Amino acid sequence: MRDQPGNPDVAASPGNSVATVRSSVRQCRVRNFDPKTSFGADAASRYDDTLRGDEPETVACLNELARGGPVLELAIGTGRIGLPLAATGLRVDGIEQSDAMVARLRAKPGGAEIAVTMGDMADVSVLGNYRLIYLVYNTLLNLLTQDDQVRCFENVASHLTDGGLFLVEAATPDSMYALREDQYVDAEVVATDAVTLDVGRYDRATQVLDECHMTMSADGIRFGPIVTRYVWPSEMDLMARIAGLRLHSRWAGWQHEPFDSRSVRHVSVYGRSPPSP
Ligand SMILES: C[S@@+](CC[C@H](N)C(=O)[O-])C[C@H]1O[C@@H](n2cnc3c(N)ncnc32)[C@H](O)[C@@H]1O
Repeated sequence: MRDQPGNPDVAASPGNSVATVRSSVRQCRVRNFDPKTSFGADAASRYDDTLRGDEPETVACLNELARGGPVLELAIGTGRIGLPLAATGLRVDGIEQSDAMVARLRAKPGGAEIAVTMGDMADVSVLGNYRLIYLVYNTLLNLLTQDDQVRCFENVASHLTDGGLFLVEAATPDSMYALREDQYVDAEVVATDAVTLDVGRYDRATQVLDECHMTMSADGIRFGPIVTRYVWPSEMDLMARIAGLRLHSRWAGWQHEPFDSRSVRHVSVYGRSPPSP
């Protein structure tokens, strides 16, 4: 029954209204979720099976902003963007916390030449400064508290050259506010021998989305949990200010499409000094 979720920890009682029960349920995170291990061997082995399709335009945009580099990718993963960007002749370094994702990067042509610092992008230190630091594919949202996201901006600011730029690409939280009862089930794959469902529940207070991609097939059920903290672009701009950075540009996509109230994602570019008028 929807009004009395079957969660023994938050049973409804006379003093425990349906609204209270719902809000308690929302506060439950995906149990045992550990961001540090969420991109393990299983996820890494499948990561490049389905690319986004925007890789060439992403690389073209980053290449232009890099102005010769050097460049640092936060959360470089398997090198989906870092490798083709390095192939344009730029020096691209990376930060990453998953050994399994870096192993996939190393196995690709050019992957052994990329210097990767292992650690948490919110605070790990790297040697040197960069003309461009970038964080794409919603990955700022993988930091699960506002504090960690601010620390990430501060870490970036401490590794930018004078005139250096920080680019962030992320979805806006709009879709989270069109959900029925702050939750959804999407059919991602419907085939004769397998079904993949994306199941999500959003907490408006913390801006955290608990999500699990579930694949059911003759092999059994596979769970792909992921937790993310959504951020409005305006909140991101304040994080940048705390770190001593200012918004220089904001687009709705890699080809500098105008960002407006209907945009569902943004490409935001920050720099240390205010942009020239
Ligand atoms: C969606 S993938 C993006 C990978 C790559 N940037 C791309 O565009 O394909 C997210 C990556 O972020 C890494 N990651 C998540 N949180 C991190 C953190 N706090 N510090 C460093 N890497 C992190 C994961 O291990 C994973 O490789």
